[in-house]
Amino acid sequence: MSNQAAEPLYNVLVHQVSRPTGEPSPQHFQFVEEPLPALADGAALVENIHFSVDPYMRECMDGDWELNEALEGRTLGRVIRSNSAELLPGSWVLHRQGWRLYAHVVPEEVRVLVPVEGVPLTAWLSVLGGTGLTAWVALTQIAGLQAGESLYLSAAAGGVGTAAAQFAALLGARRIVGSTSNARKATILTQRLGYTDAFVYQSGQISAQLTEIIPQGIDIYLDNVGGEQLEAAIDAFRDNGRAALIGAVAQYSALHPPAAPRNLFDIVGKSLMLKGFLVRDYQHLQQELEAFIIPHIQSGNVVVEENITFGFNNIVDAFLSMLNGGNIGKALVSIEPGI
Ligand SMILES: NC(=O)c1ccc[n+]([C@@H]2O[C@H](COP(=O)([O-])OP(=O)(O)OC[C@H]3O[C@@H](n4cnc5c(N)ncnc54)[C@H](OP(=O)(O)O)[C@@H]3O)[C@@H](O)[C@H]2O)c1
Repeated sequence: MSNQAAEPLYNVLVHQVSRPTGEPSPQHFQFVEEPLPALADGAALVENIHFSVDPYMRECMDGDWELNEALEGRTLGRVIRSNSAELLPGSWVLHRQGWRLYAHVVPEEVRVLVPVEGVPLTAWLSVLGGTGLTAWVALTQIAGLQAGESLYLSAAAGGVGTAAAQFAALLGARRIVGSTSNARKATILTQRLGYTDAFVYQSGQISAQLTEIIPQGIDIYLDNVGGEQLEAAIDAFRDNGRAALIGAVAQYSALHPPAAPRNLFDIVGKSLMLKGFLVRDYQHLQQELEAFIIPHIQSGNVVVEENITFGFNNIVDAFLSMLNGGNIGKALVSIEPGI
């Protein structure tokens, strides 16, 4: 095919080289250089530009990820050479061969992304990606948020949290309360990310802080953290409250399971519903999410909140920083600014 960039000879990938006990660290990863194989018929060579780093990857480190093998992760890249009529050089593709500079892909494993005016491409890894879809499903399918209801979100300043709060505001939530690890993040939540109230979870007992902020109680809880946070939400629930159990980031690196929640019997007394889900089972709602949210991004109603670390060399640090709360919004890595 004509107009194709010269094929790079080498790839750079990140491997996991050992299993962590507790907190992961840079020593569990290694950057590896290897020759790029010849491009097969029907395949395209993609230069990866934007990478998603996510909490589930910490769980993968315990066994799902093979040691000394290429890792997976949601990634947005540009086709630079192609032996496929469906994947034209210059087109943007979403795929799951992350943690590497280049990927060979076939049409069945990618989504070709058509840029939309007024929407940054990275939004398809954040508020319009699996993160945003998780928030959308939690609110609309699992918890069934109704206008006028009040909700609480843990890991409020993260990718899912900042998307969910803004979506909840658009869906007519009355009070949107979030918790995070420091006062600076809490201020940003209420100033520009849709929260009506925010608090620092280490500042005192979570349940007591929630009662003080919203004494009338909550109708909905989006649980990103588990443990003590879930226990506090069960305490704060009004009758017929609903929790969407999204994740339990507090225990992904914990050496022992959390002692809480100790109040599970209140689920009976208050007629509560707690339901977990995996976003991969709700991909059919992607178009619904985009149809609802894209006009709000274009109008500025929804902030595409992203924490972008530049440089592929920094991908491990960006992942570890996200696990420790270094991010506000969706944690991403881009190879350089301005692409
Ligand atoms: N069910 C699904 O299909 C699905 C899909 C996507 C994500 N998830 C889950 O959703 C949750 C949020 O994911 P995300 O991608 O949006 O990540 P994120 O919230 O952007 O990043 C993780 C955040 O967790 C917080 N955190 C870390 N340790 C904590 C602890 N011990 N207690 C309280 N907070 C802690 C940190 O924020 P602070 O600074 O505020 O502590 C950190 O920023 C995760 O549990 C993830 O596994 C589930």
